[in-house]
Amino acid sequence: MAKLIVGNWKMNGLGPALAEAQAVAAGLAGSLAGSLGGTLGGSGVRVGLCPPATLIERMARSLSGSPVLVGGQDCRAEASGAFTGDVSAEMLSEAGAVLVILGHSERRAGCGETDALVAAKVEAALRAGLEPIICVGETLAEREAGRAVAVVATQVRGSLPQVLAGRAFSVAYEPVWAIGTGLTPTTAQIEEIHAAVRAEMSAVLGVPGARAPILYGGSVKPANAAEILSVAEVGGALVGGASLKSADFLGIIAGAG
Ligand code: PGA
Repeated sequence: MAKLIVGNWKMNGLGPALAEAQAVAAGLAGSLAGSLGGTLGGSGVRVGLCPPATLIERMARSLSGSPVLVGGQDCRAEASGAFTGDVSAEMLSEAGAVLVILGHSERRAGCGETDALVAAKVEAALRAGLEPIICVGETLAEREAGRAVAVVATQVRGSLPQVLAGRAFSVAYEPVWAIGTGLTPTTAQIEEIHAAVRAEMSAVLGVPGARAPILYGGSVKPANAAEILSVAEVGGALVGGASLKSADFLGIIAGAG
């Protein structure tokens, strides 16, 4: 199955940053005839970028005709209403998004998002025709207490609604302690958690849900991408800081080829 490599720009990027997105698209176009030849499209790599909401429409327009998918970083569960400052899945879709990151640890920790709320947002994303990327991951304290597998399994069970069965989506395993820190788990630790996520997905959704890719996220960079992406059950990467520079992001994509 094609690896999915998604950049999460977080709250970074004004208009001029769109040049980086265009450079990613140009790099992918060039690579069709080069080292990534044959890996795009068919079976190799799907690439997405999730800019701040203010840039989604412009990025989608400037990348139209390119294989780069555009996504949001969050959405409200409701389609519309008196929710000052929030954006609905339908609004993201209208702006040109096809992906949406949900339940990122920065939102779980900083905005009090629970598994139940994340599940409601996933339903909203599907209602609007978006492909959700559902984030899970343990804190350092939870890992040190030997609870990483249990914590992640609980998050998967609570954040993946039944309606996901048979739909396009992915789960991203992002250990909180690896995000933006330069620290990464060992490949054995990644393999252990991804196997647990796969087992939990199968238990919750049955066989159709069990086929969805499981991404790894947390300090992915060009130097470690190929090793991480070759781990069993790693179906792609969710990339924060290193997605802001096209050369780094392209280097990570090359690691999936
Ligand atoms: P990072 O962030 O790559 O900067 O560690 C990953 C993420 O938060 O998705």
